[in-house]
Amino acid sequence: VLRPGPLGAALRGLVRLKAGGLAGHVELRTGLIDEAVREAVAEGLGQTVVLGAGLDARAWRMAELSAVDVIEVDHPATQAFKRARVEGLPHTARSVAFAPVDFERASLRDGLLGAGHHPDRATLWVWEGVTPYLQPAAIDHTLDVLAAASAPGSRLVLSYCEPSTVAWRLLAPLARLALRWVGEPLLGLISRDQMTQKLQARGFRILRDELPAAAGPRFGVRRWRGPFGPEERVAVAVRTR
Ligand SMILES: C[S@@+](CC[C@H](N)C(=O)[O-])C[C@H]1O[C@@H](n2cnc3c(N)ncnc32)[C@H](O)[C@@H]1O
Repeated sequence: VLRPGPLGAALRGLVRLKAGGLAGHVELRTGLIDEAVREAVAEGLGQTVVLGAGLDARAWRMAELSAVDVIEVDHPATQAFKRARVEGLPHTARSVAFAPVDFERASLRDGLLGAGHHPDRATLWVWEGVTPYLQPAAIDHTLDVLAAASAPGSRLVLSYCEPSTVAWRLLAPLARLALRWVGEPLLGLISRDQMTQKLQARGFRILRDELPAAAGPRFGVRRWRGPFGPEERVAVAVRTR
């Protein structure tokens, strides 16, 4: 029903309205990350690890990944659901492997090795829409593991949420309660300065760090910045050593 046509357009409008700006934000976030994936592939990176992949469909929709091996890492429960959904679907990536890992409890390093990751080759790491759901210690630990498994030239594309809008500051306690209630507690909010320090300390140089809304014009989309909620940024970094 969300296909082209007046009914589809009307339903899409309704979904957008109900999502209060979130749908537009996620579209732009996805666009920015796709752009970074294309750049990394053009640089010759042949392996990609999608961390907290959820229903990420890049390995099934991006023709640019035809010479790239993709490993999807996710919480075992989410990954089991995803695997049942993609079973039998042709992928556009050269290969797709799965590593079930709970970032809060299990070893990402073992998961990666078990899924065929090559730490001696440059990797494109995609970590989209996950850090807000992790405790700060799990974010740091995951960054440590991926940095240790990043050959020079590896790229990291990640999104993270800053607790920065005025409305967010005022509404934070209520918003946190509401998100906890729907089962999505916000645990890992990080300022831009903190994220810069975290990445630089692990040998990554930041190429870009932007708000998806600010990149709207690049995608032919009107700039729209919701007044509520934390601001989610997309950072692209390259491993220099
Ligand atoms: C909002 S979804 C984002 C999915 C996808 N990356 C995207 O952008 O569409 C959050 C993802 O984080 C994963 N996640 C949350 N906590 C996790 C944990 N402790 N360990 C592993 N994955 C986790 C969930 O399983 C889910 O796939």
